Amino acid sequence: MELAVQLDGKYGETLRGEFCVPTMRSMGLESDDLDQEVMYLCGNSLGLMPRKTRSAVTKELDAWSMRGVEAHFRHPGVAEDCTSWVDVDLPVLPLLEPIVGAQTGEVAVMNSLTANLNSLLVAFYRPEGKRAKILFEKAAFPSDYYAFYAQCELHGLDPTETLIQVEPRDGETSIKTQDVLDTIERYKDELALVCLPGIQYYSGQLFEMEAITKFAHQYPGIVVGWDLAHAVGNVELQLHDWGVDFACWCSYKYLNAGPGAIGGLFVHSKHAGSSEKYLPRLSGWWGNNAARRFQMLEKWEPIPGALGFRQSNPSVLDVVALRSSLELFAKYGGMSKIRARSLKLTGYLLKSLKQSPFYTDDHSKIGFNVITPVDRDSDHGSQLSLRFYPLDSDTMGQVSSYANKRGLIGDERRPNVMRLAPAPLYNTFQDVFGAVQLLNEALTAITKRKR
Ligand SMILES: Cc1ncc(COP(=O)(O)O)c(C=O)c1O
Repeated sequence: MELAVQLDGKYGETLRGEFCVPTMRSMGLESDDLDQEVMYLCGNSLGLMPRKTRSAVTKELDAWSMRGVEAHFRHPGVAEDCTSWVDVDLPVLPLLEPIVGAQTGEVAVMNSLTANLNSLLVAFYRPEGKRAKILFEKAAFPSDYYAFYAQCELHGLDPTETLIQVEPRDGETSIKTQDVLDTIERYKDELALVCLPGIQYYSGQLFEMEAITKFAHQYPGIVVGWDLAHAVGNVELQLHDWGVDFACWCSYKYLNAGPGAIGGLFVHSKHAGSSEKYLPRLSGWWGNNAARRFQMLEKWEPIPGALGFRQSNPSVLDVVALRSSLELFAKYGGMSKIRARSLKLTGYLLKSLKQSPFYTDDHSKIGFNVITPVDRDSDHGSQLSLRFYPLDSDTMGQVSSYANKRGLIGDERRPNVMRLAPAPLYNTFQDVFGAVQLLNEALTAITKRKR
């Protein structure tokens, strides 16, 4: 504990005070100290609520109650930095661009992640003759699998021939970059699309996005897209410089914009097009020439760039919730500072886990190890995935329920995996210390019961 306190002193710059951290009381848990804050290591699933979000949303409810439809053009809170609803998403873009490494015009906030992935696939997946295959990963998040599968069906292609999945080697838990590159090389004349996760949701593996994107782009005709659900707001991204064609993400994890929050997408400037020459896509009035939008013309003139991919007017309450969180990213000093603190926190978590008497590679014993690749900082983000043993037991379930009752909020992936993700904007080294202590206590109790 002393070390954790020291580390909190040394790397103590969090914005924890800006977030609502649940307490034992608010979680409905029993404790001698009900005001004690829980150890919330679940920002990879749903980030905590920034305190400012409540007032940001309330201002919009006030605007609605005061002006009704007129707040679209005449917001009563303009002096307090509120934006009339017709342009409410625009101030979010300069906050988001540095987080994903985009240039002006390359990012839009809209829809949710899967809807954005489907939209982007409609625009970017153009199978032509032999060049029709989609490369992604085995055990991808199922929504992505369904989206790729649907593309095959929509284009009248056989999914078993069209979908190519790269997977970890036997006995391994993460995918070798070399295997991705070799698969691209093997199918270089048949691939239309490579679409992978920036960070794998289950294992926490951070993919070598730049290397994979650039390798695939040696072959004209291969489009490269990324699902950044677990990468955005977690690791540094340079989508423009890497030449990524498209990307999409959700904002409820590391971006802390709230449950089911509005998602985002990136379209590289090389695909920006113009109002006359553009990529055909799923279209709607919000992507059309803003100056003429309300003339209600039967003339499709998309806004060049990512904004031209918007279909509907965005949910104002969602957009301001995202904005209030992204302002904290800027206040902290941006992604390089956030990532530096993240590496310290996750490094401390890893070290503490490895020092546990229950850390084991022997799968027959009661214990756990880390399946996230951790040899290099560039192999992972903030999340570590712990796999509990024996595999045919309910060790993970029992540990999780023991620790959860005592204030550790982690994330279960049944039957054997627990994901822990210290979020640098609000987690402390003491959270990490407390979490590992609870895991050890739980495993001690299970071991005693088994004797
Ligand atoms: C990697 C990945 N892809 C897709 C999704 C689906 O997200 P949504 O429900 O926002 O469409 C998730 C959700 O957690 C995810 O982790």
